[in-house]
Amino acid sequence: MSDSGLTVSGVSVDFAGQRAVDGVSLGVAPGRVVGLVGESGSGKTTLARAIIGQVPLAAGSVLLDGVAVAGRRSRTAAQRRAVQLIQQDPFASLNPQLTVGAVLEELLRVHRLAGDANGRRARCRQLVEMVGLESDTLLRYPREFSGGQRQRIAIARALAVEPRVLIADEPTSSLDVSVQKTVLDLFAVLATHASSDRPVTAPGGTSDLNPRTPIATLFISHDLSVINAICDEVIVLRAGVVVERASVERFFTHPQHPYSRALLEAVPRLQIGSEIP
Ligand SMILES: Nc1ncnc2c1ncn2[C@@H]1O[C@H](COP(=O)(O)OP(=O)(O)OP(=O)(O)O)[C@@H](O)[C@H]1O
Ligand SMILES: [Mg+2]
Repeated sequence: MSDSGLTVSGVSVDFAGQRAVDGVSLGVAPGRVVGLVGESGSGKTTLARAIIGQVPLAAGSVLLDGVAVAGRRSRTAAQRRAVQLIQQDPFASLNPQLTVGAVLEELLRVHRLAGDANGRRARCRQLVEMVGLESDTLLRYPREFSGGQRQRIAIARALAVEPRVLIADEPTSSLDVSVQKTVLDLFAVLATHASSDRPVTAPGGTSDLNPRTPIATLFISHDLSVINAICDEVIVLRAGVVVERASVERFFTHPQHPYSRALLEAVPRLQIGSEIP
């Protein structure tokens, strides 16, 4: 396992004496999209929260580019920036009082990204464009957008701080099927974009993280057709334990664990290699 990107090593999380995540190890290299699947309650969100430092670890460690990071409060600003979480409900994470432009500009200012006020405005336009929205998005408030548009805004906000790791926790499950597809296409584009050597930052942007390094993405979903569409690898979590880890091709053609086979059999209409409807 390479040191760069995200490494989760033997992580356990307890809630009131109950183990929700049990000795999970995984790695997501820059430019890769790793899918995390498992039924409801298997510990996917808890693992995501452990990675961003929102819940304490009962055991194990989380490493960014080979460096162990502490809980959220003890992380440096750069470490907090480095891992961004995109949640299921984008509305919950957007301040309704601020225009989208104000939210993005403030983020850039606080993190000293994109230079002066002009640089920040240019970067904001670039960010909304990157997620397929018009630049007048910047003048509007979160309530003025549809669910799919809000999820794009949440993605733009996560990208604004030039993360090394993106964790997407069921980012499309609150969206209807047609909108799901457009947001998923965006993730697919982002992965390609990030894998290329193009900088993800505006010219003149200052950053202590190398913006040319592609993003490592951990994509949580219980929808296997979504995983099939955008991931390189699959990790299967069952009752807090990793029971299978495989390339997407192998997972969908030769699942090894009975639980993986059960998950696959629960999706009778899934055609291997098919498009999302
Ligand atoms: N804050 C909490 N306090 C106590 N128990 C919790 C807390 N958060 C999660 N749990 C428990 O941890 C287990 C894993 O929950 P988690 O939310 O990680 O599952 P999940 O895989 O994300 O499920 P879903 O697919 O429904 O989102 C569950 O048994 C849940 O009840
Ligand atoms: Mg969850």
